[in-house]
Amino acid sequence: MTGEHLLITGGAGFIGSAIVDAALAHGYEVRVLDSLRADVHGPVPGSEAAPRAEAAPGPDHGPTIEHGPAARAPAARPASLDPRVEFVHGDVTDPAVIASALAGIDVVCHQAAKVGLGVDFADAPDYVHSNEVGTAVLLAAMAVRGIRRLVLASSMVVYGEGSYRGANGFTRPGPRLASDLDAGLFDPLDPVTGQALEPVLVGESDPLDPRNVYASSKLGQEYLATAWARSTGGRVAALRYHNVYGPGMPQNTPYAGVASLFRSAIERDEAPRVYEDGRQRRDFVHVRDVAAANIAALDFTATQFTPRSAAVSADIASAGSTNSDDGIFRAYNVGSGIVHTIGDMAAALAAAAGGPAPIVTGQYRLGDVRHITASSERIRQELGWSAEVSFEAGMREFATAPLRAAVRP
Ligand SMILES: NC(=O)c1ccc[n+]([C@@H]2O[C@H](COP(=O)([O-])OP(=O)(O)OC[C@H]3O[C@@H](n4cnc5c(N)ncnc54)[C@H](O)[C@@H]3O)[C@@H](O)[C@H]2O)c1
Repeated sequence: MTGEHLLITGGAGFIGSAIVDAALAHGYEVRVLDSLRADVHGPVPGSEAAPRAEAAPGPDHGPTIEHGPAARAPAARPASLDPRVEFVHGDVTDPAVIASALAGIDVVCHQAAKVGLGVDFADAPDYVHSNEVGTAVLLAAMAVRGIRRLVLASSMVVYGEGSYRGANGFTRPGPRLASDLDAGLFDPLDPVTGQALEPVLVGESDPLDPRNVYASSKLGQEYLATAWARSTGGRVAALRYHNVYGPGMPQNTPYAGVASLFRSAIERDEAPRVYEDGRQRRDFVHVRDVAAANIAALDFTATQFTPRSAAVSADIASAGSTNSDDGIFRAYNVGSGIVHTIGDMAAALAAAAGGPAPIVTGQYRLGDVRHITASSERIRQELGWSAEVSFEAGMREFATAPLRAAVRP
C-alpha cells in the first residue's frame, strides 16, 4: 500500500474513473482535477454557482475544491466519484488551478485531454489548447514544485497507419486514396508486387506519423514531457493506449469509439453497420486493464531506470526521448496483444446482446487507418503488465454494461 499522494487529471472521464478505482485499491491518496468539459459531461449541475468548464483561464479563475461526502452542496462534484477522493473542479490550462491541485502531490497521472478524431480542423485551437498548452502548464508547475514523476495518457494514433511487411521488408504506407477505397481496395498494396501488404504489430520505436490534429496534439504532449524530463530529471511513462472499451464508455457521439457505436446500435435493436469489409485489424483493450497499466507505470516513475543496452537506448531516442540517466521518457504500447477485426467485434457484441447481426456496408471514412495493432511486449517485460480481460469476456460484459450518457451538442 503506497500512501502516496496522486493527482489524476481527467479523473472524471471514462479511463480516468477506472484509474481512480485502481489507485484507491492500491492505497494511493487520490485527488482528481477535471474541468467536466460540457461536451463530455453535459452542463454542470448548479453551474450558475460553479466555474464553467470552458471558462477562459485567468488569474482570478481559481479552482473549486470539494472534499468527500460531508462537503457543502457539491455543485460540480461528479456523483459517481468515490467519497475518499478529493475533487478539484478546474481546467488544466489554468496556472492557478494547477498550482493548488499540485499541493502535497507526489506523482501525477495526466489523462485530461480533448479526445476524438480531430475531424473538423476548426477544432484545432481547442485540441492544442486543452492538450498541449494544458500539458505545458502542468509540467511547468511540476518543475517549480519539484514533482518529478508523471504518467501520461498517449495513444496509438501517434503511429498513424500500422506496420506492414512487403517484398522490400517493413514499410509504412501513406494514407489510402479515395479512388482505391471506392473500388473496394481497402488494404494498402505492396508497390513491388501489387498484392496486399501483410500487417504486423507496431512497436514503440516504429516511426511516428500523427495524421490529424488530435494525434498531433497527443504526440505534442509526448515531446513536451520528454523536454520536461530532460530539463528537470523527471521520469515519464507515456502509455500509448490502443482501442479502449468497457463500462462507462461514452455512447454515440461522433468521436465515440467504434465499440460504443455498435453497442448503441444494438441497444436500439438496429444492426451494427460495419465499414469497409469488416477486416480492419485492431487491438481492443479493456478499461480495467488500462487502469492496471497506469498503476504499473506509476511504479515505474518511482524506480531508477537505466537503458541496459544500445538497442534500448536507440528505442528511446527514436521514440523522441532522452537517453540520459537523469531524466527518462519511456513510451509503452498498451494493448491486449491479440488482434481482432472490427467485424469480429461487431459480431461478438451482437451475439452477446442477442441483437441483430452486423451488416458490412463497404462504406469508408477517408482518413481512417486500415490496420493498427500493437506489440505490448515492452510493457510486459519492463513493467510486468499484461491484459487480463479476454476479448470474449470483455465483450460479453460490454454488451450490457452501462455507458456514459450521450451529450447533446
Ligand atoms: N478512449 C480511448 O480509446 C483512448 C485511446 C487512446 C488514448 N486515450 C487518451 O486517454 C485519456 C482519457 O481519455 P478518455 O477516453 O477517458 O476521455 P474522456 O473524455 O472520457 O475523459 C477526459 C476527461 O478529461 C477532462 N478534461 C478534458 N480537458 C480538460 C482540461 N483542459 N482540464 C481538465 N480536465 C479536462 C474531461 O472533462 C473528461 O472528464 C485522454 O488523454 C485520451 O487522449 C483514450
